[in-house]
Amino acid sequence: MDKIIDGRALAEKIRQEIKEEIHKKNLRPSLAVILIGNDPASHLYVSLKKRACQEVGVDFHEYLLAENSSEEEVLTVVDFLNKDEQVNAILIQLPLPKHLDTDKIILAMDPKKDVDGFHPQNINNFLSKQSDFVPGLALGIYKLIESTGENLANKKATIVAKSNILYQPVAKLLNDQGVTTTIVHPGDKDISDRCREADILISACGKAFFITEDMVKEDAIVIDVGTNQVGESTVGDVDYSTVFAKAKFITPVPGGVGPMTVAMLLYNAVKLASQN
Ligand code: GUN
Repeated sequence: MDKIIDGRALAEKIRQEIKEEIHKKNLRPSLAVILIGNDPASHLYVSLKKRACQEVGVDFHEYLLAENSSEEEVLTVVDFLNKDEQVNAILIQLPLPKHLDTDKIILAMDPKKDVDGFHPQNINNFLSKQSDFVPGLALGIYKLIESTGENLANKKATIVAKSNILYQPVAKLLNDQGVTTTIVHPGDKDISDRCREADILISACGKAFFITEDMVKEDAIVIDVGTNQVGESTVGDVDYSTVFAKAKFITPVPGGVGPMTVAMLLYNAVKLASQN
């Protein structure tokens, strides 16, 4: 296994499997994406999702709303899609413009159509083992770690994230494999120590070059969820050029976690379509 975990290649393999499943089971999955505002990165991600859907045979519907849309306008679209029988999966592209209440809008989604698995009811059902619907982001990260072939039992993982709730499902997937997992905030005083003790280090704090070589344990598996714009380049949270030598396995940015979250989005859209 190469030291660089190739998220693009793994995602391509998964997309092929999904395409075959849609064809074999004669499914008609349908995903509606709500994209609010002009954030260039969000527009890029949605265009990648659209292309991936079209490639595997998931119907794709785009709802583009103006940057200054009111909460009421957004909730009207969510309500419309909740009731639309042609649509079995809904995704609200994040981050939302600052004047909108993200929690409230996510909460308005029909949990049965919430393809990201971000609705609190879906997160709670998954964490309390009442559902096997794994949020795509968590599943993508987990599959990248699994692809290393490393024995995970008794390893320690540290997840660096500003929001605890989105990463609890990753922690659960790892805990189920015997990994002791802690979620830490990038502002924590002991952040360097928490990172340095990790056999598996996952950074999702959205700060370019935040994870430096001295914060990484020798032979760690390093998963970089960050996508940060620095000038013309997209870089992760990890200072890749120095951390590379120390890690046993590492995901690149771009080409690591990004393609996997798109592949797992397709996987979950098909799952929702099969359940209805
Ligand atoms: N913005 C960046 N990644 C994601 C994602 O996985 N889902 C949604 N809804 N928004 C995102």
